[in-house]
Amino acid sequence: MQKLAIQGGNPLHGEIFISGAKNAALPIMCASLLSADSLRLSNVPDLHDVATMRKLLQQMGVVVDVQGDCMNMQGGNVTKLEAPYDMVKTMRASVLVLGPLVARFGEAMVSLPGGCAIGSRPVDLHIKGLQAMGAEISIEHGYIHAKAKRLKGARIFFDIVSVTGTENLMMAAVLAEGVTVLENAAREPEVVDLANCLIEMGADIAGAGTDMITITGVDRLHGAEYSILPDRIESGTFLVAAAATGGNITLRNTSANILDNVLEKLQEAGAKIQTEADTIHLEMRQRPNAVNLRTAPYPAFPTDMQAQFMALNTIAQGSAMMVETIFENRFMHVQELRRLGAQIDVEGNTAVVRGVASLEGAMVMATDLRASASLVIAGLVAQGETVIDRIYHLDRGYAHIETKLTALGANIRRLK
Ligand code: EPZ
Repeated sequence: MQKLAIQGGNPLHGEIFISGAKNAALPIMCASLLSADSLRLSNVPDLHDVATMRKLLQQMGVVVDVQGDCMNMQGGNVTKLEAPYDMVKTMRASVLVLGPLVARFGEAMVSLPGGCAIGSRPVDLHIKGLQAMGAEISIEHGYIHAKAKRLKGARIFFDIVSVTGTENLMMAAVLAEGVTVLENAAREPEVVDLANCLIEMGADIAGAGTDMITITGVDRLHGAEYSILPDRIESGTFLVAAAATGGNITLRNTSANILDNVLEKLQEAGAKIQTEADTIHLEMRQRPNAVNLRTAPYPAFPTDMQAQFMALNTIAQGSAMMVETIFENRFMHVQELRRLGAQIDVEGNTAVVRGVASLEGAMVMATDLRASASLVIAGLVAQGETVIDRIYHLDRGYAHIETKLTALGANIRRLK
């Protein structure tokens, strides 16, 4: 099991280049199943989850050629319409092959994703939507078995906003007969990125980015070239790390207009922020102010940034109330932050963080992707050495994080 060792106390300074968004790359890679032609992607992040998705699609028959951050995908001879348990259990986003497989091939066998550290994370809304479009679905031996001669357009209402639910049904609808309307759809930028890629492939989609998306089915999609949008969560994570360490950093290849809520919270914490085109600059000259936050679907504060802001609040002046409304168990980082000296009380889905003057380095353990990022940020500000175990969680969503942090002046190294 690899570990990260961090000597805290160095303010981050300098500039880094942000990678493509994991949560856009994963659904967009699945769009390769919707056409026999070539889908040529660029700005694809070098992540463990992207490699897992590539292998999953390859075992179905998609031909994938990777050159640096470019990925050329060919769905011309897909022969296996199955996502096996041993792959789905390591990455829940595998469920995103369900919609495209049923749309183009009329059948799919996809393992039910298990739960994960942050919650039970059911996929009932994905299944309900496909049934509304005429798919016959049975759950057999832990697999979702879906069949449909040809999906039919339907009006689908999400009683909970679901990012991958919206994405799966959008991909199912692009080849369906007639019009599909997704109501109470997710508005995340990654949903919009998928829609823009599908439109490049010839899909007829209106309303992506709003809570009502209308998809008019077409007979076939053709190839396209598409560049993945920047990762707003990677951007936010580095900005919070710079704010926590009293640093001064510039992010390139990013986009400020998909981070409004996070940037506002950082300014509330006392950071000075300038943005232009694909650049965000942050400078922190003071001990952070504690900031209250409440996670909710986009454009509200993203749940994927909650753990990182909790690390910032642990050393802020004042107390902060943090409410997690999306997942039922997304405070796994609290126990670990307490080991570093943080003062945090949790009551249900609310955490109250009382800022302390400093944290003390310790051995801690990563439990899920964003919790790991929270521990890295805490390690960067703690006095002495922090060693983080089980950092495979981190590698799933952050490309070469210690290389990027070292370039910003952090004292961090990976222990084999
Ligand atoms: C996506 O997960 C992201 N993953 C998550 O990022 C992110 O935290 C989450 O959206 C919320 O923004 C990808 O895009 C690959 P949801 P997803 O469906 O789609 C409930 C990361 O760190 N729900 O929007 O799985 C669900 O339990 C990951 O990069 C149902 O009840 O999340 C949750 O409480 C972590 N039934 C809420 O909806 C369903 O059928 C939102 O989940 C689907 C979801």
